[in-house]
Amino acid sequence: MSTQQATLGDEPNEFGYRPFTVGGFKFERDEYFVHVEWPTGRHVAAIEPFLKALMRDVAWNFFYGTVNFDAVIGTLNHYGNVDLFAGRFNEAYRQAELDHSENFPHDELKATFQAILNDWVNEEFDPFAAPQETGSAYGTKNGDNLSAVSRDRVTANRMVGLPGDEPLRSDESGYPINRMFADVDQSEPKVVVEPGYEAEVSAFNFFSYLSRSDVTWNPSVVSVCRDSLMCPTTEEFILPIIHGNDRVEWFIQLSDEIVWEVEDRDTGRPRAKVVMKAGDCAAMPADIRHQGYSPKRSMLLVWENNSAELPGMIARGEAPTVPVRF
Ligand code: PHB
Ligand code: FE
Repeated sequence: MSTQQATLGDEPNEFGYRPFTVGGFKFERDEYFVHVEWPTGRHVAAIEPFLKALMRDVAWNFFYGTVNFDAVIGTLNHYGNVDLFAGRFNEAYRQAELDHSENFPHDELKATFQAILNDWVNEEFDPFAAPQETGSAYGTKNGDNLSAVSRDRVTANRMVGLPGDEPLRSDESGYPINRMFADVDQSEPKVVVEPGYEAEVSAFNFFSYLSRSDVTWNPSVVSVCRDSLMCPTTEEFILPIIHGNDRVEWFIQLSDEIVWEVEDRDTGRPRAKVVMKAGDCAAMPADIRHQGYSPKRSMLLVWENNSAELPGMIARGEAPTVPVRF
């Protein structure tokens, strides 16, 4: 556990951006790049993809397993505490013993990452938006976009459509139908409910619901049944993180097409290229990492098993890394 306190930002540099320190890691930005330093090394990366990755890591509370921002920097979730690492899942860094990792309480690292987003995201940039629906991340400090960088994923309190969890379905909701989903049928199913069961039985047009999503690569949670989470999302351009799984997850491609690059989780060696077209279903193994490419805005249903037991069972070999063995 890190004993060093996070510094939530020092004085702004010549570009107007504050530097941030957490444990032995130091983060600085200029007009185009983030510069990361740790006791044994340093890394530079383009600021736009970095901010998009950081945004997901914060909004998803470090997600399941590993969130690789790129081939070097990322986080590993231990659910309660988190590792911030450099080169840990990079075969060359590991072999050269250049990898570095520090453990932080969840809240401490999240607060630092949130402070970076608050300071480094300019007024016109929205890290959740598709490239054609946002302004630029580059340049000197120019205002902020606090409402965009404090978005959480939308989580249902109960199944969407039931009283108490009304989906955002109308133009008045402030969520217009996305430009790429103009052809999506907006008619709602007709449900005739036995009197007395109005609060328990409902149905809604899932495609219509998703057509109003204003963000990309940000799974929401529309139904929770014990540990079964249905997480639909709309995707356009590139998933800003390379996600290393700690459990099996299922993908159902609801519309259009996504190409997935699948690699070995620990080394990054290529394992598969999966082309998913509308209607296709795939299970992603628990020992891979993957990044998706969506040429046109598409709808994807991610089905997650939220059981806290799974990562340990898989790591100890008590549960398989694939859902079915043929
Ligand atoms: C994933 O890594 O499994 C993932 C993350 C975000 C998405 C879709 C899939 O929008
Ligand atoms: Fe994943």
